[in-house]
Amino acid sequence: MAIVEQIFPALTWRIRKLAMYPEKEIKEMALPNDFDGIHFGLYHNYELTGVVSLFEKGTTAQFRKMAVLPGDQGKGFGTQLLQYVIDFCKQEGIQLLWCNARTSAIEFYKKIGFVTTGEPYLQDQLAYIRMEIKVEV
Ligand SMILES: CC(C)(COP(=O)(O)OP(=O)(O)OC[C@H]1O[C@@H](n2cnc3c(N)ncnc32)[C@H](O)[C@@H]1OP(=O)(O)O)[C@@H](O)C(=O)NCCC(=O)NCCS
Repeated sequence: MAIVEQIFPALTWRIRKLAMYPEKEIKEMALPNDFDGIHFGLYHNYELTGVVSLFEKGTTAQFRKMAVLPGDQGKGFGTQLLQYVIDFCKQEGIQLLWCNARTSAIEFYKKIGFVTTGEPYLQDQLAYIRMEIKVEV
């Protein structure tokens, strides 16, 4: 059984590192505006297994650092976590949810209903593209 709940920002750092930046230090995992965000954790068998961070701006919100532990990817946890965030956005009156997706994860987001907008770009040797979904009330 997996459940999603809001978590303290620093709890995201370990999973950000393991899933996204294994070569970096844990102290590099903090975002400058982490404390402005709302952070969600997916717990599987009481263990924090996936995280994502949401930043609201009016009726638009960006999520960042969507990450599931490497050993637990492909089990549906990412979908459950992001669906929870979409439902949360509905309740918050958010109309548009977007992210800068790693191009390696495009298919994951498409399955949930996100579409690509704009052109791919490179940052720190990783390819990204903006993706978004209209949040239906
Ligand atoms: C991307 C990520 C968050 C997805 O979470 P997950 O728990 O592995 O995804 P799910 O198990 O819910 O996958 C749902 C579907 O998307 C597919 N999928 C998941 N990750 C994928 C990927 N990187 N590329 C292509 N398809 C992917 C799954 O195969 C599954 O397909 P199915 O329904 O046909 O079986 C996770 O794999 C991850 O943390 N990856 C490394 C970090 C990363 O890239 N984060 C995103 C940064 S933008």
